[in-house]
Amino acid sequence: MLEITPLLEERSGTSLYIQLYEYLKDEIKSGNIPAETRLPSIRKLSTYLNLSKNTVEKAYDQLVSEGYLESRPRSGIYVLELEKEVIALKPKPVLQPQSKKKKPEIKYDFRFGNIDTGHFPFSTWRKLTNQCLYPDQKELFSYGDHQGEYELRKEIKEYLYYSRGVVCVPEQIIIGAGIQQSLSLLFQIMQFFNQTVAVEDPGYDGAKSIFMNHGCTIDPIPLDSEGINIESLYQSQAKVVYVTPSHQFPYGMIMPYNKRVQLLRWAEENNALIIEDDYDSEFRYAGKPIPSLQGLGKTNKVIYLGTFSKSLIPSLRISYMVLPTFLMEKYEQHFQSYQQPVSRIHQKTLHSFMKEGYWERHIRKMRTTYQKKQHTLISVIRERFKNNVEIIGNGAGLHILLRVYTNHTEEELLDIAERNKVKVYPISKFWTRKNVSGFPIIQIGFGGLSEKEILKGIKILERAWFG
Ligand SMILES: Cc1ncc(COP(=O)(O)O)c(C=O)c1O
Repeated sequence: MLEITPLLEERSGTSLYIQLYEYLKDEIKSGNIPAETRLPSIRKLSTYLNLSKNTVEKAYDQLVSEGYLESRPRSGIYVLELEKEVIALKPKPVLQPQSKKKKPEIKYDFRFGNIDTGHFPFSTWRKLTNQCLYPDQKELFSYGDHQGEYELRKEIKEYLYYSRGVVCVPEQIIIGAGIQQSLSLLFQIMQFFNQTVAVEDPGYDGAKSIFMNHGCTIDPIPLDSEGINIESLYQSQAKVVYVTPSHQFPYGMIMPYNKRVQLLRWAEENNALIIEDDYDSEFRYAGKPIPSLQGLGKTNKVIYLGTFSKSLIPSLRISYMVLPTFLMEKYEQHFQSYQQPVSRIHQKTLHSFMKEGYWERHIRKMRTTYQKKQHTLISVIRERFKNNVEIIGNGAGLHILLRVYTNHTEEELLDIAERNKVKVYPISKFWTRKNVSGFPIIQIGFGGLSEKEILKGIKILERAWFG
């Protein structure tokens, strides 16, 4: 039913029907109840507001006689269109409605966040979700463990150990609703407000805004060919650094073993902490696997974060955070009353998915799928663009960067692409300092497109930029 929530006062000295009449008149005049809205019947509104039918009827009658409402036989009571002068009195809403501007038509969207939904195991996921919806599972309908379902944490612990060398127990894992929510919780646990956080420059903007929204100052640390520059980090006053060593975001380099050791040494020597965001570590296509910083460190210096957004689907909103024991103690002391934000039904489904072996199969399949897509992408870029571009960061993940040797600016390149129904993305927003890379660099995500679409999209892009 239409939201009609007047504040009616029995003892105000004004009769209830007048109060209701005035409320409805104001709502109609202000446009909150627009023309052609069908009002609830007298019976429904009187039951809903706990008023007599007579009171509602009198209010409606008054509005009909003044031309605000019309009673249409066998249809209902409707709000009439008002004269312009009355509408002009309508106050401007504080929040403007979202722009309905027509978006340009896009045929090939190389968005980094898009994943391959065609290979999502729909029937398995549906079957496992359905299993949660039987009466014998109704325990899942109530609040769960605030840290996340224990059985799921056990599966994640196993997976992290054999795939990333992460050493932990399930008691150290907190399930979150995405990396940003996990980071936000982490900063509250650390009581890390109004301090300095060192970040890779360029780096993940989504993390930087979390840090800034906790009052922190960002200290941008430049990259070298292997990731964050350790010498520059030593010059920073920061006691926390946020890094993406498996596949630096957005440049894509994989941090080699030696640099990982240096980074861990920096943390030891400076009594600092490392936040390791392993957001797409499942998709590595070349070289030997390098254990996570958390696994290499064997110290209390690393907070490890991961997500199911790239490996499964982003709308699942499930991430995880492995805390060192001293932070776990703080969490236990101060966060007992915080509820777990992720649905127990999704958690249970994911737990079954992992336990019954589907996860491993899915990851293997997706790795091959994405590797093929990446291969196609790189081949067609090399074939078409030749020396007009340089490909950056192709060892892992779901995106690459293109340094484009052109006189166009980044904005112009995006604009030309869009006019040709191809969408590619800027990386300028990932820089904290000014982009010092010279030629424009464009981000190309390939997860969400088929190989055929990749081929077509890149050919169009080359023609549009250089044809
Ligand atoms: C570095 C990095 N971390 C985390 C995320 C997002 O993770 P989630 O979907 O769990 O919030 C992204 C997404 O683009 C990312 O680039």
